[in-house]
Amino acid sequence: MAQILKPEKKNIELAANILKSGGVIAFPTETVYGLGANGLNPISVAKIFEIKNRPFFDPVILHICRKDDIKKLWKKIDERAEKLIEKFWPGPLTIILPKTEIVPYIVTAGLETVAIRMPSHPVALEILKEVDFPVAAPSANLFGRLSPTTPEHVNKQIGNKIEIIIDGGKCPIGIESTVLDLTTEKNIILRPGGLPKEEIEKVIGKVEFAEKTNHISSPGQLPSHYSPKTPLKIIKDYKEIDKNLKAGLLAFKLPPEKIKDYVIAIEILSEKGDLKEAASNFFSALHKLDNLNLDIIYAEPVPQEGLGIAIMDRLKKAEKKFIKS
Ligand code: TXA
Ligand code: MG
Repeated sequence: MAQILKPEKKNIELAANILKSGGVIAFPTETVYGLGANGLNPISVAKIFEIKNRPFFDPVILHICRKDDIKKLWKKIDERAEKLIEKFWPGPLTIILPKTEIVPYIVTAGLETVAIRMPSHPVALEILKEVDFPVAAPSANLFGRLSPTTPEHVNKQIGNKIEIIIDGGKCPIGIESTVLDLTTEKNIILRPGGLPKEEIEKVIGKVEFAEKTNHISSPGQLPSHYSPKTPLKIIKDYKEIDKNLKAGLLAFKLPPEKIKDYVIAIEILSEKGDLKEAASNFFSALHKLDNLNLDIIYAEPVPQEGLGIAIMDRLKKAEKKFIKS
């Protein structure tokens, strides 16, 4: 089990040091407990997904404690966001806007947008103040289970996979933050949560729930999820590669030298075949191949275990999209 530590100065520092060294901690926010890692370090973020046992990738929220940090993380900040931040941060409102280059694709599950919030829980803020990067954190539950609102909930679900849980008592709000998409001119709530729609409407006017638009709110199933424009095919054998096509290979491990006779571009997910490293590189590798105007991307399957399940889920979805169209 993980140690449940009181939010004293030395424990806050310990939490910050674990984050700085690339590790994962559980910490309280006013909504639910979060499973936090350095949001600018792709391997650290991959660890979160591994711990949660999710069979797919879902974009995670970056948590900050200095409003100014949005300038480094969002490419465009409009008046709506400025007004909402002024009024509701710190608090249970997550805003989605276009990301800058420093935000790794594993944080956004390949999307060009990133969700950010500033939590109001004093313990969360203390931890965030001790580090100079945003903390990526989904709720600290296992896939398909309830979000934890006490340190004991966290310990029961994932206590065997993390070192420490910082104790902030029971989360005062107890439901997740409201997730608001401001990437179009419409104001769309992707997930209802701690901040009511009416409160947001008082500041920026009409807000819609995703269900009423073309969005599907169930996580992992959002049509806005990234998939490549280039056709993709999963192959078990290099013999399946069509040499007449301008092809790229998304390799799991270091491929044999002769592969260069078959494809013009190669991205290797992890030379030594490590699934955590592969997951951390997955979306950026796919983006790189997708930007080369290839006829096709061939992808090697990865082992169907741990993070490999989420990687294969993404590959299969990308392949299916190609077969249909
Ligand atoms: O209250 C909360 O928001 C908690 C605490 C820990 O801050 N966090 C939380 O994170 O609930 P998570 O990962 O369990 O839920 C984040 C939700 C997911 O449904 C995800 O799909 C959505 O936000 N989301 C995040 N980034 C997104 C993006 N760029 N585009 C669309 N949806 C996004
Ligand atoms: Mg969650």
